[in-house]
Order: sequence, then C-alpha cells, then structure tokens
Amino acid sequence: MKIVPATEENLQAAARAIREGGLVGMPTETVYGVAANALDPEAVRRTFQAKGRPADNPLIVHVASLEEVREVAAELPEKGRLLAQAFWPGPLTLVLPKRPEVPDETTAGLDTVAVRVPAHRVAQALISAAGRPISAPSANPFMGLSPTQADHIASSVADRLELILDGGPCEVGLESTVVDVSGPEVRLLRPGRITLREIEAIVGEVLVGGSAKRRSPGMYPRHYAPRARVLLVESLDGRPGIARSEDAEAYGRHLYRRLHELDATGAAEILIERPPEGPEWTAIWDRLRRATT
Ligand code: TXA
Ligand code: MG
Repeated sequence: MKIVPATEENLQAAARAIREGGLVGMPTETVYGVAANALDPEAVRRTFQAKGRPADNPLIVHVASLEEVREVAAELPEKGRLLAQAFWPGPLTLVLPKRPEVPDETTAGLDTVAVRVPAHRVAQALISAAGRPISAPSANPFMGLSPTQADHIASSVADRLELILDGGPCEVGLESTVVDVSGPEVRLLRPGRITLREIEAIVGEVLVGGSAKRRSPGMYPRHYAPRARVLLVESLDGRPGIARSEDAEAYGRHLYRRLHELDATGAAEILIERPPEGPEWTAIWDRLRRATT
C-alpha cells in the first residue's frame, strides 16, 4: 500500500522523491494534493498527466513561510502582504506577479503565480525537507471530488504517486480561498473557509470573480463532482443523504467525505438537504452548485 504514516523516515523519502522529479500525495488542512517540485517542468507535466487535467489550468505553489514567497513571486503587493499576515499559514491562496524561474508549465503560461503557505504540519515538514517550492493541485482526477483523507485518492491518481503521506482527515475539507492581488483591484477567484467578509475587513473593497484581463482559469461550471447525480432536496424525510446543519465549518469539513462515502455505495443519486444561506455558506454553495451541474 502506498499510504504511509508521516514519520520522519517517510517524510525524508517523500522529500527525496520530490527532489528527483517524482510525485507525492500530500495532506494539507484543506484537501490532499499531488505534490511536485514546482520549478521542475517535467515533474509539473507529470502532475497534469496524473490528474488528466488540461495544461491551461495553473497549479498552486506551496511554500513554508512568508519569506519563501520571494522564491516564486516577483512582488508581494501591500494588500497581499496584509492578507498573508492575517491568514498564513492557512487556507488562503494569493495570485501574485511571478518570477521568471517559475516555469510556464506551472502557471499555464500566465504572468502570475498562485501561492499558499499551508498550515498542516506534514505539508510544512515536506516543503522544508524537500527544500523546494511545491506545486500541489487537489489529488482528484480532473473534475472529480477532492480527497480529504488519504484513502479518498482515486487509484488512477495514486498509481502515479511514489507514496501518499497520511496526515489524517483534513481540518477544513474545502479547497483554499483564492484571491488575486496582482492587479489594481483585489479579486476573489474561488470562495473558501476564509470568507469575502474576512478579506474585506483587511483590504477593503473586493471584486468577486475574474475579469477579461485577470481571468480565473480552472473555474468550470461542473467540478468537484461525485459519479452519482447530486440532488438538492428540502428534506431527506428519513432517506439516506447529507443532512442540513447549522455549523458551516463542520459541514465543510465533512462534505467531501460524505460525498465520497455515498458515491462508493454505487447509488445513482445522492440527496442533499438544502443547507442554510449566508456568508459562511458561500464556499459550500459554490461546491454544491458545481457538483449538481
Ligand atoms: O486548497 C487548495 O488550494 C488545494 C491544496 C492542495 O492546497 N489545492 C488546489 O489546487 O485546490 P487546484 O489545482 O485544484 O486549484 C487551483 C486553482 C486553479 O484551478 C485556478 O482556479 C487557481 O487555483 N489558480 C492557480 N494559479 C492561478 C493564477 N495564476 N491565476 C488565477 N488563478 C489561478
Ligand atoms: Mg482542484
């Protein structure tokens, strides 16, 4: 089995695999990722192959600290610095002007790079041990459900990994909030646990979505979807499915696990009781809309 505990020995083996151009399953506080050396175009190409992902959809680069952002970003604009100080390490990705050392493969030819300092102790340890910035898209096949546990990683992806470090279930359970601070206005490209309100509290006005110039690649109408058809219902009425809750953080933490479990039963449909609306539910509604499209 490729899933191994995150012991010092296994961390060193994973770091070696990354330095040698291989791929590793890496836990983060959001979801599990396919980790590779972000500066190695061959390793990045293999990452896209492992996911079956089109090459025009850029990767997020993970570094261990705010200081290391300099290795991949040409600049950290003031509003980006304020957001980094408020939310890193954590589930926030910043889109920044890129350094020329970051290959076009990693950024899909864009002049910007998406960067995040993850809070998970195993991700932190792996980045430090590898001594490289680590690109890590979510470890699901293209358009599929992101894994929030090591054993969620589909075999089509796992087959391409040297090993998978087991870091337990992800605490956040939804992909990071992506914020573009590379242009004149701040733009929220992907909602996540860190909400629009929390970002606005730090930097003032934030526009939602990409623009013609600052586009938001990889935000497809259908995404994050299980095999089964997902149906939103007013009430489960005793049927199996995902029950409503009033706790957005707990709901987000368990949503993908419940979808993975229900999908594994082979049922044709998965019922979801309509969750509440409101600012903390934006990321959940974003994923549910994509899963039901
Ligand atoms: O929580 C997460 O962010 C996870 C964990 C593993 O860190 N990673 C993740 O990566 O969700 P991925 O590849 O599944 O999603 C990355 C998304 C892209 O689809 C795109 O929307 C956005 O980040 N992105 C990456 N680089 C960008 C850029 N230069 N400009 C705009 N958006 C970018
Ligand atoms: Mg993804």
